[in-house]
Amino acid sequence: MPDMLPFLRLTERAEKGTRAALYLSVGLGTGLVSLLILATLLVSVALVAVAGAGLIVLPVHLSLVRRWADAERRRTGSFLGRVIPPRHRPLPAGFGARLRATLLDTVTLREVAWLVWQAVAGVALGLIGMVALVGVPSTLLQTALWWMAPDGEPATLALRPVSDWPSALLLGAVQFTVLSALLLWGARPLARLHATVAAALLGRSRVDRLAERVETLSHTRAGALDAHAAELRRIERDLHDGTQARLVALAMRLGLARSRIDEDPEQAARLLAEAQSGAEEAMTELRQVIRTIYPPVLSDRGLVGAVEALAARSVVPATVSVDDLGAVPASVEATAYHLVAEALTNVAKHAEASRAEISLSRIGGWLRIAVTDDGRGGVEEGSGTGVGGMRRRVAALDGEFTVVSPAGGPTRVEALLPCGS
Ligand SMILES: Nc1ncnc2c1ncn2[C@@H]1O[C@H](COP(=O)(O)OP(=O)(O)OP(=O)(O)O)[C@@H](O)[C@H]1O
Ligand SMILES: [Mg+2]
Repeated sequence: MPDMLPFLRLTERAEKGTRAALYLSVGLGTGLVSLLILATLLVSVALVAVAGAGLIVLPVHLSLVRRWADAERRRTGSFLGRVIPPRHRPLPAGFGARLRATLLDTVTLREVAWLVWQAVAGVALGLIGMVALVGVPSTLLQTALWWMAPDGEPATLALRPVSDWPSALLLGAVQFTVLSALLLWGARPLARLHATVAAALLGRSRVDRLAERVETLSHTRAGALDAHAAELRRIERDLHDGTQARLVALAMRLGLARSRIDEDPEQAARLLAEAQSGAEEAMTELRQVIRTIYPPVLSDRGLVGAVEALAARSVVPATVSVDDLGAVPASVEATAYHLVAEALTNVAKHAEASRAEISLSRIGGWLRIAVTDDGRGGVEEGSGTGVGGMRRRVAALDGEFTVVSPAGGPTRVEALLPCGS
């Protein structure tokens, strides 16, 4: 029905316009409250300057501003259809520290700027929104009931006094047209203007975002250093307790064999044979240690081949699904491999699952690895070293790691690792 289309567009426009006018009208109320808060804030700042008594009142006020701004973040966020996250860090304990943290927080300044914006623009635009919202129905009422106005105080339509039906209908039509246009075409841009400025003042500034990024990076860097140190200690332990111990025994046997070779060649030969098998064992152990550093299967068969090999060896039947992965850095490959290995070990050890599924895919600059099983769920991260180790490995590469494992299952372990492009 093509002729219905303009009508549908108009109703959609009216709906959006009403929503915008409603947003602006509520802004009138919040603008007035903001004005009040601003005035009392000025009083407490003045009190600090005059008597110092404001030092007690000011923090209370500022925390009120915080909560008020948070409410507006939710309201404006829901109007714009996005989340405006609260930007405050938790306040420290202690009166002095709390006061200092609040006063030095740049967020506080921006919130006060928002109070001014809300008190001025919120009230002005709120009045316009209110007119747009109630204007149309009240025009219809006024036009129909103009004759009820008391003598000497005639009803006004389109800013002119109304004296008879023709003028009521004509002026009513003019006012109706103007106010409908305001509702249909005017309210939305005004509401968006108001909301965008509020969101800019209440949202994260570039500096905030950078500061947060630096904070996360220094955390992950610390995590990376920890993980690196732990890995070095493990390798050192493995070499010390395994390979080195075997080489020591080997050297002793060789020494003994050398000293006995003339008197008791038979015993010397036995010692040499033992030494040879000891050397082979040491080699096997060394190979195992090397394997944990950079699994040779990765260089032989690539990540996909290596993961397929893990799946083939898995006790619980496992399937692998792979998209086109593109180029993956060696460190990411190693992390992905270790992650799948530990996840599959956990499935075999704890999950009581009948099957597992491994998926590798590329999402933009990220490699996504997910291991899912249909077992009993209920992963407890703190109770072993495996899951925590996976998390640290992933954090070391600045990736993201999630475990979803409700009691009763299923369990999904997922990591996103950056591949640099
Ligand atoms: N796929 C799974 N399904 C059900 N429970 C799991 C699964 N994976 C881990 N869990 C539970 O979470 C706990 C923590 O796992 P984690 O890998 O950290 O430790 P672990 O396997 O017990 O020991 P480690 O890995 O240090 O040898 C496990 O003890 C187990 O109870
Ligand atoms: Mg484990």
